[in-house]
Amino acid sequence: MDAVIALLPGDGIGPEVTAEARKALDAVAGRFGHAFEFRPYLIGGAALDAQGLPLPRETLKGCGDCDAVLFGAVGGPRWDKEAPDKRPERGLLSLRKALGLYANLRPATLLKPLREACPLKDALLEASSFDASPTFDMLILRELTGGIYFGSRGRKDDGRSAYDTESYSYREIERLLRVAFDAAAGRRGKLCVVDKANVLESSRLWREVAKDLEPGYPGVKLDFMYVDNCAMQLLRAPGQFDVIATSNLFGDILSDEASALTGSIGMLPSASLGEESLKGLGRMGLYEPIHGSAPDIAGQDKANPLGAILSAAMLLRYSLGLAEEAAAVESAVLRVLEEGYRSVDLATFATPHPRRAGTRKMGNLIAGRISRPAGD
Ligand code: IPM
Ligand code: MG
Repeated sequence: MDAVIALLPGDGIGPEVTAEARKALDAVAGRFGHAFEFRPYLIGGAALDAQGLPLPRETLKGCGDCDAVLFGAVGGPRWDKEAPDKRPERGLLSLRKALGLYANLRPATLLKPLREACPLKDALLEASSFDASPTFDMLILRELTGGIYFGSRGRKDDGRSAYDTESYSYREIERLLRVAFDAAAGRRGKLCVVDKANVLESSRLWREVAKDLEPGYPGVKLDFMYVDNCAMQLLRAPGQFDVIATSNLFGDILSDEASALTGSIGMLPSASLGEESLKGLGRMGLYEPIHGSAPDIAGQDKANPLGAILSAAMLLRYSLGLAEEAAAVESAVLRVLEEGYRSVDLATFATPHPRRAGTRKMGNLIAGRISRPAGD
């Protein structure tokens, strides 16, 4: 297959981790006989510095012309004083919105070799686990182009009062929940809608929509949970969750929390999909690790590239329809962890002795396992 992938490294550790994700994709291309063309574009602070805008027109157009977008991270203290519409983060938010990527898939799975890196006791993991082993495997589905991120906001009273608005339409909720029901039907059949329906009117609408859709998915068991309770349940019984569907802001917060249970925020990948990408193969999507730009460790070969590499696996699966190739990337990641290699963020917990590896070495090892799955 021929595919064109837009490469948006961004700021901080973004360029380092996307370089390793690209190596993994190049290894896939070599082993399976595909041709992937990468087209680099500026975004975030890097784009601000070069062109004065966090999302240059050329970047947006370039992404629209590609089959998928591989994204690193944006932001950093250097740009903290920029006006709100010139912050690096605005580049990412505008890109998600412009490409119509409303469904953000954030799988949080505890990989066996990383058991020690999960802060929970065995008993807590086992009690809620779907297979009685100390593990969990959940998919957080975050609404990505609506809610308080995009509602009206501003200042009043001479700037001494500020407001942000959480607003959702039936249609916005419905299209996200359809993805969630479908995902649950293909997994363990459990969907938990997380909200604050005891306080927020928009949350009550989420519940109405979920109940309207429920009869269409007889294989899925629907539950509701308040977000404060969910934040607590994640820490005491994460195995109870299969698919969590929630709003933009709640999903942002809960996915960071869940990532800490997988060992490190550096582990979590994500896929952001729009209408068409869900209907068939080979459609547009944006793929990014959920972590930020980590300016404190940028350029030191310390970043964990696994979230970015696993995002590349999601790109293969959801935008290019290459399921076998995606699985090859995921099993290469697992294998390198099983062999004891650990990036800096994970090394503290590994027993008995981690084989410490920097960003580039982790990426090289994984690309090597993709190219030569039998090992040598
Ligand atoms: C994320 C990030 C972004 C978000 C920031 C960088 C705007 O935290 O992808 O989780 O809040 O969506
Ligand atoms: Mg976040």
